[in-house]
Amino acid sequence: MARVGPGRTATRPMCPTPGLPYYRVMNITSLATSNTGHRGSLACIGLGMTLGSHLTPLARSHIEQADVVFAGLSDGVVELWLQRMHPDVRSLQPYYREGKSRMKTYWQWVRLMLAEVRAGKRVCGVFYGHPGIFAWSPHKAVELARAEGFPAHMEPGISAEDCLYADLGIDPGRFGCQHFEASQLLFYQRRIDTAGYLVLWQVGLAGDRSLGRLRTGPAYRQVLVDLLAQDYPLDHEVIVYRGATLPIEQPRIRRVALRELPHIPLTAEETVVLPPAEALRPNLAIQERLAALDRLEGVGAFA
Ligand SMILES: C[S@@+](CC[C@H](N)C(=O)[O-])C[C@H]1O[C@@H](n2cnc3c(N)ncnc32)[C@H](O)[C@@H]1O
Repeated sequence: MARVGPGRTATRPMCPTPGLPYYRVMNITSLATSNTGHRGSLACIGLGMTLGSHLTPLARSHIEQADVVFAGLSDGVVELWLQRMHPDVRSLQPYYREGKSRMKTYWQWVRLMLAEVRAGKRVCGVFYGHPGIFAWSPHKAVELARAEGFPAHMEPGISAEDCLYADLGIDPGRFGCQHFEASQLLFYQRRIDTAGYLVLWQVGLAGDRSLGRLRTGPAYRQVLVDLLAQDYPLDHEVIVYRGATLPIEQPRIRRVALRELPHIPLTAEETVVLPPAEALRPNLAIQERLAALDRLEGVGAFA
């Protein structure tokens, strides 16, 4: 916890005011007048996936108290909803362009946010889902703002991953769960554990080496399937998942065989899950070692 005293600022109140919820007690203005001498600050917050229902009270209070809000959202309707919460919402979406490197776009987002922080503004970067999950700019902006002495932090949000666990009834702790960005899985040599769940993000962009395409097609997804076929049978079930972004929507869950993945329509907002393909194999050597330790310490084995 941050020390409080002259010239020091806490990011959480030391003595909460009785009767007030912590997010109201938290004095965001005080974040902007730290001993750095700067007034600017940055909060990158997550709006969650579903309009309205996923926004935390703390994230809302950051939006309301900001001088300027930048929005990296998935849906124009969500952006309109955000505009009702703040008079100065600046969309980051127009910086995307087919053929333009996403890295260039993401750097632009960082520069836009930091320029306002340096100008002394309380800046709130609002991103759909969780601002730190498969999202480069919020991490970079927080890192650079801190390096320049500005208070900067991230507030988590409900991500596509969280919705996926709920909607598909998956507990990542049951068999373990690996997450990969689909292109990274193609570009680098990785070890897939087929006894756990495999979650693939950005499959709609799989294999895009230019970073400038907004989607890739069946031929690129076929390369992904060929790679996965080294570990999974081609008739293995694949779940193509799209969580609801509007309260009137239902999650879309499609189950297809791995071999069909290149041939189905797939949007940029879908995540692909491969359930386990094999049973957990006991590690007998480690279990024997633990049993020996248990004997030494006089404890019993699990039931
Ligand atoms: C750049 S990442 C952003 C993830 C986001 N920060 C989050 O917390 O969920 C984009 C990827 O998230 C996943 N995604 C985005 N919207 C989704 C949705 N509505 N349902 C399922 N997955 C989604 C897809 O894998 C997509 O390619």
